[in-house]
Amino acid sequence: MKLLTASSALLLLASTVVAAPPRPDAATHKSSRSRLQRAAARRSPAQHAGQAHAAAASPSADDDDDDNTHVYETNWAGAVIETTGVQSVTGTFTVPVPSTDGSGAGWVGIDGNDCYTGILQTGVNWYRDGANVTYVAWYEWFPASMEYWTGFAVDGGDVIRATVTADGTRSGVALVENLTKGTNISHAFTSSETLSPLCQTDAEWIVEDYVEDLAFVEFADFGTFTFTDASVVTAAGTTGLADAEIFDIEQSSVIRTNSSILSDSSVAVSWIK
Ligand SMILES: *[C@@H]1O[C@H](CO)[C@@H](O)[C@H](O)[C@H]1NC(C)=O
Ligand SMILES: *[C@@H]1O[C@H](CO)[C@@H](O)[C@H](O)[C@H]1NC(C)=O
Ligand SMILES: *[C@@H]1O[C@H](CO)[C@@H](O)[C@H](O)[C@H]1NC(C)=O
Ligand SMILES: *[C@@H]1O[C@H](CO)[C@@H](O)[C@H](O)[C@H]1NC(C)=O
Repeated sequence: MKLLTASSALLLLASTVVAAPPRPDAATHKSSRSRLQRAAARRSPAQHAGQAHAAAASPSADDDDDDNTHVYETNWAGAVIETTGVQSVTGTFTVPVPSTDGSGAGWVGIDGNDCYTGILQTGVNWYRDGANVTYVAWYEWFPASMEYWTGFAVDGGDVIRATVTADGTRSGVALVENLTKGTNISHAFTSSETLSPLCQTDAEWIVEDYVEDLAFVEFADFGTFTFTDASVVTAAGTTGLADAEIFDIEQSSVIRTNSSILSDSSVAVSWIK
């Protein structure tokens, strides 16, 4: 969600190719941290081993009576739907008050998973440093860098609806609404901001342990973060989460989140450690 500097992109690449080279097209574009890491993780035999281990170590995974695929990644938790003709993705959440120091982000997006050209995202970051807890709402059309909305205060406990809408592959809007107060802020992307086209082939509702200064930010305990009223509008109509892939975060063999689809319109992500 944030842009890498050229040197940090190289460093990240250098560290990830050890496990598995990202796809050539991923390597030639400057990539968001999440996408780069996901590209590497998806293709890493070690990651698949980790996934198998995780499933074996967690009996509850076997008891799961839904058919949702469960994917472990280094920085994403939540739900992803792979489809075609994605026009709009929305989800509502209560901004968490982190109980430990660190950061995290909650957002909705189009094409963060498998597109490799454009990504349209909007959401909220949280930061805790002792008693100081701060929040910021932001939007991004990758590969342009993430932009913060100034003048739109976000507080823990606010009920926020985040929506991204693509009016085609090079045009769209990011919208954040404060449902508690009835306020909103939006950004319509201009052609100079949509540098690279969307594929409109995936929709996601994500809690992210993002990377800053070449390292994962300390992943603050956000409790349970729940997206409700989640849906994706495609050329074929509106779909819920029933068939979504579930994502969870695993770093160095440590499982850090536990996500589950609660209903066709809701996914919950619980912080574990
Ligand atoms: C609180 O955190 C924000 C964001 O990290 C920072 O800009 C601000 O200076 C901090 N305030 C205090 C009082 O530490
Ligand atoms: C959103 O609503 C909350 C009340 O829940 C308020 O504290 C906050 O300032 C509001 N933010 C904006 C930008 O209106
Ligand atoms: C955003 O707020 C404005 C008032 O400031 C209102 O006219 C508009 O309908 C709102 N839009 C959405 C999508 O909530
Ligand atoms: C994940 O949450 C489910 C309940 O939603 C629980 O049954 C399961 O034990 C949890 N798994 C882990 C690894 O915490």
